[in-house]
Amino acid sequence: MTTILGIETSCDETSVAVVDDGRRVRCNLTATQFDLHAKYGGVVPEIASRAHIEKLDPLIEEALAQAGTSPADIDAVAVTQMPGLIGSLLIGVTAAKTLAWAWDKPLVAVNHIHAHATSASIELPDDPWPAVALVVSGGHTSLYHVRGYDDISLLGATIDDAAGEAFDKVASILKLGFPGGPIVDKRAAAGNPKSASFPRTLLGDDSLDFSFSGLKTAVLYRVHGPGRTTGGLEKLGEQDVSDLCAAFSAAVVDVLVEKTMRAVAKTGVRTVVVGGGVAANSMLRARLSDRCQRNGLALHLTPMRYCTDNGAMIAALAYHLFAKGRRDGMEISARATAGLS
Ligand code: KG4
Ligand code: ZN
Repeated sequence: MTTILGIETSCDETSVAVVDDGRRVRCNLTATQFDLHAKYGGVVPEIASRAHIEKLDPLIEEALAQAGTSPADIDAVAVTQMPGLIGSLLIGVTAAKTLAWAWDKPLVAVNHIHAHATSASIELPDDPWPAVALVVSGGHTSLYHVRGYDDISLLGATIDDAAGEAFDKVASILKLGFPGGPIVDKRAAAGNPKSASFPRTLLGDDSLDFSFSGLKTAVLYRVHGPGRTTGGLEKLGEQDVSDLCAAFSAAVVDVLVEKTMRAVAKTGVRTVVVGGGVAANSMLRARLSDRCQRNGLALHLTPMRYCTDNGAMIAALAYHLFAKGRRDGMEISARATAGLS
């Protein structure tokens, strides 16, 4: 058995997990920072870094205790190296390097987006590859062709806003709070998705890229009036807001489902996996399940608890890379971007 300690600090969640053989999650603890950022309506990088510093050490101790393991039982220390907020990443990478050195354990650096792309496998008995992976988070909306844990290629990505960012911005337009995705999801359940017809931007006929900025602007003008960025919200009743959430969610979900099907047709794979914070969205889960079932495709949705940022997906991916011989040295450092990967 191989036991990996996984550390995730790429954005505003401090998360630590202990995972056996990439599949058995012994412990996955996450300290969210929602309260610290809520009054600013978004993540403030400096506040996020400081909170990671305060929370990470006690969380590591707590995770080891809850998993019933000691440092001697850990086979490797894994950490998110990229992409993300550089100050936040630095805290996790520095902590992981320090522990690897102090405990004399191997270090494995992980690409956060690849971890989201492979997170659906955490509780599966067998690897689902090859598959098309839809990664939908606050910072990314991408499609990948996953042939194996170390063989992942980008098929398409957003050219402007990420899906989660669009959810957060629409929640902000409607003054629903932060982070907006879960709140819009909840309100959408009580609304009529056909109450408004928002644009579905598909770009070219065979494009696998995404664009959500036009949709966000359409919601903005729908609320405030054409060309206006303020006023009008007070005229909307509770049901109007729920209807807008439903119509907006339907537009995002239609595009995500359509592009995923295009990626399936292009690659010829018969399996779809979905990860990232927006993979927790109930309309996306329902519509994708329906479409995959109708097309005879296998669909593996990441379990809800591993959709938003978490240490378990970092430890799980690291296990598979570690098993293939991956080891990183003390010279690695955090990287805000991951290039075209
Ligand atoms: O993966 P994640 O935790 O962080 C990034 O790597 O970005 O994703 C966070 C994003 C936020 O934009 C949040 O609003 C969105 O995921 N999100 C959702 C839902 N739960 C979280 N969006 C739509 N519906 C949800 N249920
Ligand atoms: Zn993420």
